[in-house]
Amino acid sequence: MRLDKLLANMGFGSRKDVKALLKKKHVTVNQVVIKDGSKHVDPDKDMIQVQEEVVQYQQYIYIMLNKPPGYISATEDNREETVIDLLGKDLAHFKPFPVGRLDKDTEGLLLLTNDGELAHQLVSPKKNVEKTYYARIDGMVTEADIDKFHQGVTLEDGYQAKTAWLNILQSDVVSEIEVTITEGKYHQVKRMFEAVDKQVIYLRRIRMGELYLDETLKLGSYRELREDELAYCLSLKK
Ligand code: URA
Repeated sequence: MRLDKLLANMGFGSRKDVKALLKKKHVTVNQVVIKDGSKHVDPDKDMIQVQEEVVQYQQYIYIMLNKPPGYISATEDNREETVIDLLGKDLAHFKPFPVGRLDKDTEGLLLLTNDGELAHQLVSPKKNVEKTYYARIDGMVTEADIDKFHQGVTLEDGYQAKTAWLNILQSDVVSEIEVTITEGKYHQVKRMFEAVDKQVIYLRRIRMGELYLDETLKLGSYRELREDELAYCLSLKK
């Protein structure tokens, strides 16, 4: 990969900024000053330093965000705040994007990455990645609803949802449930409850495959995936 591209990718500024760094003789490759940004380097083998600091090349970023309500799952929007607005500027050069979508009012687990292949695997209907949501429902959720969800409810547009697993935590005028689905259609959980004449009044995603929402993350905060979480994600790419 070109040296100037690598440095720009690692957050050393625009191509123009990088050019200036090179010109000032601030960059060395294997301890030799390099002024030509077009030089090809291998980040696994070559030692690249900027003002004597070794540059650790990282191509991909994997972030777990506890999405707060009020943000849309997109990278940019003219009117609304996006989940990308919640990230520090130091991550901007990775150009992360959200994997799948949570509604503006939905909270919880959202993965942000720049690894397109992983994003594809996580949302691919073929992979059947389970997603678990905690929800509060206006109305009493019953055993009959568990059966209907298991058989696959029919949404208002005629689509028959795949089997879903409903776990009632509390059945009351406002019920608390957990539901696990393997699809990610638009407003899926809300529409599934509408199909049994109930309304979701609060929704939070708590799991995606083997990724569990880190409950220590406050709404709006995030962290990079841990080794074990990353290993799971990378196993999906195989
Ligand atoms: N289902 C919904 O209805 N909304 C979400 O944000 C996620 C799943």
